[in-house]
Amino acid sequence: MSAAFPDNALAADIAAGLSRVETLFDTQLTSAFPAVNELCRHVERYRGKMLRPTLVLVSGLAFTADGESLRPEHDIVAGTVEMIHMATLVHDDVLDDAEVRRRGETVNFLRGNETAVMLGDYLISNAFHLCSRAGDPALNLRLGEVTNTLCEGELVQLSRRHDLSLDENTYFEIVRRKTAVLVGAACELGTKLAGATAAEIAAMRAFGENLGVAFQIQDDLLDLLGDEATVGKSIGRDLEKGKLTLPMILHIAHNQGADRLAALEAIDAKDGPALRRVLTRSGSIDAARARAVAIVEDAKRGLPQTRRAHSRELLLELANRVVARES
Ligand code: FPP
Ligand code: MG
Repeated sequence: MSAAFPDNALAADIAAGLSRVETLFDTQLTSAFPAVNELCRHVERYRGKMLRPTLVLVSGLAFTADGESLRPEHDIVAGTVEMIHMATLVHDDVLDDAEVRRRGETVNFLRGNETAVMLGDYLISNAFHLCSRAGDPALNLRLGEVTNTLCEGELVQLSRRHDLSLDENTYFEIVRRKTAVLVGAACELGTKLAGATAAEIAAMRAFGENLGVAFQIQDDLLDLLGDEATVGKSIGRDLEKGKLTLPMILHIAHNQGADRLAALEAIDAKDGPALRRVLTRSGSIDAARARAVAIVEDAKRGLPQTRRAHSRELLLELANRVVARES
């Protein structure tokens, strides 16, 4: 990630912060039981771009004056949001019957659903235990609200599986809840801990939520269009599990007759190649991609001025990467 960083001092601060967060994460997940440790070490291999902890640290640095340091609470929140994220991935792979995650085997594939459910529980429990070490109940309260929202998003999604009447507004409501609120909270809490104003905190939260929505649209496009070797995780899960995503929703809403029917039949038959053909021909794939790009542009426009040099360019660069990524 450091190659595109606009400034060496900022890059060094973030690299040092991420390394402290990794240590905090590993220490928190150290158990007296080898059976537990083995599973935690497996999940630590899921660590990818570290987008959420990076956003906590960059948002913190953005509102800290040049030469000032982040607070220990920044590291704790960064570790907590990553642990919450890991817990959701482990549970999500159970729901999606996924076999591959970050180019490795999922816990459910390796050890079965019972172990994966318990490990997800262990991770979420540890996330809040870690957060409590900051000694600030407001952080636990806010992140508890986030995990409640996240579960609601998943529950609404489950309740609408195989529902071809799912509309765009409901899709965005699900995505905002299941993905965007955690990304928004990462930016919000990083900013808040740096002592920013209420307006700056709200603007950073909106920035993060927009990034989260665009991230999930891109994720859904990769699930529909990508291949497992490039994306590094099981793909085609949305179609398999009856989850309607934006290109499908746009196609159904804006096409009539044979084109509309062809998509409905492909969804019903779980026929990925046929669905890709019809959605590509109608321009629905491009339309969904354009929506993600427009949301990122919105996020960038709303980004407030920052205090520390170069941090704004870095946040803009992170926003661009959300829609440029192929894994
Ligand atoms: C991504 O789904 C899923 C999420 C961002 C949230 C999943 C949340 C849960 C399963 C609830 C568990 C909650 C707690 C608090 C442990 P996706 O299938 O589109 O993403 P993928 O492509 O990475 O699999
Ligand atoms: Mg999934």
